[in-house]
Amino acid sequence: MKRYLITGASRGIGCAMAEKLAAPDTTLLLHGRDTIALADVCKTVEPRCASVVRLIHDLAVSSGVSDLIASVGSDPLDLLVNNAGIAIVKPFGEITPIEWEQTLGVNVTAPFLLTQRFAPEMPPGASIVNILSVAAKTGFANWSAYCMSKFALEGFFQSVREELRDRRIRVINIYPAATNTEIWNNVEGDWPRNKMISAEQVASAVVYALSRPADVAVESITLSSATGNL
Ligand SMILES: NC(=O)c1ccc[n+]([C@@H]2O[C@H](COP(=O)([O-])OP(=O)(O)OC[C@H]3O[C@@H](n4cnc5c(N)ncnc54)[C@H](OP(=O)(O)O)[C@@H]3O)[C@@H](O)[C@H]2O)c1
Repeated sequence: MKRYLITGASRGIGCAMAEKLAAPDTTLLLHGRDTIALADVCKTVEPRCASVVRLIHDLAVSSGVSDLIASVGSDPLDLLVNNAGIAIVKPFGEITPIEWEQTLGVNVTAPFLLTQRFAPEMPPGASIVNILSVAAKTGFANWSAYCMSKFALEGFFQSVREELRDRRIRVINIYPAATNTEIWNNVEGDWPRNKMISAEQVASAVVYALSRPADVAVESITLSSATGNL
């Protein structure tokens, strides 16, 4: 039986990945904060997997991360997907210390702690998937806190990949351009949804990378809209 943990599976890209990774030989450990949204996702995938474990924790605070770690238990994971993320979008002068801390907590510290806890017991052939962003490579006006967090993950996971190579654990970094999810609901401005890629397309890229033979590592996939980015 395989065990897959996906953070931020209650909606958006995380939900799309849960739907595509559901399989009869797999236990899906699905994390989110929104109890109702996560219950809906679990209900959808349950008939197609061995079992589903629902994990409700706030990753902005360290107690939420340690509670999540405790709930996942000690059985090894075959896949860890660091997906949960937030986007505070405003001029850097207006970012509050709390917003900065939340961005660091959810986007950087939680993936660090989860990877540090679970990677040591992962078997050869296991994978860590990180949902980064094109904002892990390029700065954008008003996205400084978000870019800071994604650049940080980029450096962290490039290094972790080298540390885990001998154990044949694959570190797969995904760099989507603007993707049509609810993360945009709180971003001020005019962001045409029809120019964005879909969460399903991002999830398909993850499935493609995971489906390669165990001795092949698809280390990074960048996804952009064929009609041009925003
Ligand atoms: N959409 C894009 O344009 C885009 C592009 C590139 C990369 N990404 C990245 O893709 C990932 C998923 O984003 P998305 O677009 O699917 O966004 P989304 O629809 O807003 O989903 C975000 C997920 O993260 C969870 N989350 C947020 N804050 C959390 C917290 N404090 N504690 C625990 N969970 C929390 C949410 O849980 P609840 O809703 O249950 O609170 C939700 O499941 C993020 O890392 C994002 O940076 C997105």
